[in-house]
Amino acid sequence: MPLTPVLTKRWLSPRSWTLETYERLEGYQALRKALTATPDEVIALVDSATVRGRGGAGYAAGMKWKFIPQAKEGEPAGKPHYLVVNADEGEPGTCRDTPLMMADPHSLIEGIVITCYAVRADRAYIYLRGELVHALRRLTAAVEEAYAAGYLGKSILGSGFDLDVVIHSGAGAYICGEETALLDSLEGYRGQPRLKPPFPATEGLYACPTVVNNVGSIASVPYIVLGGVDWWTSMGPSTSPGTSIYSLSGRVTRPGQYEAPMGTTLRELLELAGGVREGHQLKFWTPGGSSTPLFTPEHLDVPLDFDAVAKAGSMNGTSALMIFDETDCVVRAVQKWSQFYLHESCGKCTPCREGTYWYVQIYDRLERGQASAADIETLLDVSKSILGRAFCALGDGATSPVTSSIQYFRDEYVAHYESGGCPFGGARTLVGAH
Ligand SMILES: Cc1cc2nc3c(=O)[nH]c(=O)nc-3n(C[C@H](O)[C@H](O)[C@H](O)COP(=O)(O)O)c2cc1C
Ligand code: SF4
Repeated sequence: MPLTPVLTKRWLSPRSWTLETYERLEGYQALRKALTATPDEVIALVDSATVRGRGGAGYAAGMKWKFIPQAKEGEPAGKPHYLVVNADEGEPGTCRDTPLMMADPHSLIEGIVITCYAVRADRAYIYLRGELVHALRRLTAAVEEAYAAGYLGKSILGSGFDLDVVIHSGAGAYICGEETALLDSLEGYRGQPRLKPPFPATEGLYACPTVVNNVGSIASVPYIVLGGVDWWTSMGPSTSPGTSIYSLSGRVTRPGQYEAPMGTTLRELLELAGGVREGHQLKFWTPGGSSTPLFTPEHLDVPLDFDAVAKAGSMNGTSALMIFDETDCVVRAVQKWSQFYLHESCGKCTPCREGTYWYVQIYDRLERGQASAADIETLLDVSKSILGRAFCALGDGATSPVTSSIQYFRDEYVAHYESGGCPFGGARTLVGAH
C-alpha cells in the first residue's frame, strides 16, 4: 500500500513553508481558478466532492457552506459572514493540523481565501491552540507573505474580493475545540458550549452566519478546485472520499503522519509505519483519538473511514491511531484519559462534571488495588448517566474508552482487584496516553 501524498505533498520540500516554495509547487493556482468561477459554483464543487469534516464529526463541508444565508441579487447584504478555522487540535493522540500548519501554512491560507470567496465572508479567524507558539509564528509569517503578495487584503488578485485573516491564540483548553465554545472564547467569554440550535451557520460569531471548519477540511479545498471532483472522489469510499492524514503514535516502529486514501486499514498503515515495535504484539488502539471506542487486533482490517468505523462500533474521529501493545495496561491508559476529561470538563453540565470525577476516583482505586467487582458496574452506570445526557460531545467522548475497555478487557479489570493492584506495575509510563 503506497502513501498518497496530497495535503502532505510539499512537506518534505526544502523550506516548504515559504511562499516561494508554495508558488513553485502549484501554490495559489487553485485560487486563481476559483476566482474565475462564481461563489455558488465553488460551493457546488466542494459539495459534490463530499469533503467530510476532518475535525471529527465528519459533517460534509459543502453542505455546511450551503446553510450560510445569502442575499438574493438586488437585495441588500445582510449580516457579515465569517469563516472560523478550528486549529485547536486538542484530541489526545491527534497530530496532523499542527504539522500541516508548520510544513505548509499557505495551503491553509489558500483554502481560507477560496472558502471565504465561496461563502461571501470578508474576515476569517484561525483559532489556534495556545501551546502552539511555533505554529503561531509560522502562520503569522505566512499570512504576512500572503498580504504582501496580494493573496489577502483588498481586491485579491484584482478580483474586487477583500479578505482579512486574523490569527487568534487560545489558552489551551480542550473544550475550546468544540465549535460553539470556540466562538464564545473568540468573543472574549469563558469557553463553554452554546445551546444548538441556532447553529453557527445562522448565528455564529457575534451572532452572524459563520462557517466553522477544521484545518484539514479547509486545506483540502485548493486540491479539489485544481484536481476536480472526479479525481478527489476516485480516492477512498464514495461516502467519505479523498485522503486522510492518519497520525500513528505509541508502540509503533515509525510513529508519524501517514497520508492515505480514506478507508485504509490499520494493517496497511502499520506496514507503512514498520509495524508494532519489534518483538511485541498489538493489544488495543484508538481509531480516532481517545474519545472514540477502543479497537483490538480483531479490527485490523476495518476500513478507516467514517461509515465503516461506525459500523464496527467506533468512530473515525480525527484519525489519531494510538497503538498499545501487550506490555500496556488498558486500565491505566483509561485512567490517564479519564484524568484528562475531568481536567478538561468545562463544568457546565452535571453528568460530565460529576461523572468524570467519579471515573477518576474509581480508576485510582483500581490501580491501587482497592477496587471491588461493584466498581466495574459503577463505571458502566456512570457511563450510562453521561452518554446522551451531557450538553456537548466531550461528555460522550469521555465514556468511550471506559465502556469499550470494559467490553474487551473485563478480565484485566477483574485482575486489578483480584491480584491486589495493577498487574502491570501501576506507575509505568504509557506511550501515547496523555
Ligand atoms: C470537546 C471537543 C473538542 C473538539 N476539538 C476540535 C479541534 O480541536 N479541532 C477541530 O477541528 N474540531 C474539534 N471539535 C469538533 C468541532 O466541534 C467541529 O465539529 C469542527 O471544528 C467542525 O469542522 P469540520 O466540519 O471541518 O470537521 C471538537 C469537538 C468537541 C466536542
Ligand atoms: S459535556 Fe462536559 S464539557 Fe460539555 S458542556 Fe457538559 S460539562 Fe462542559
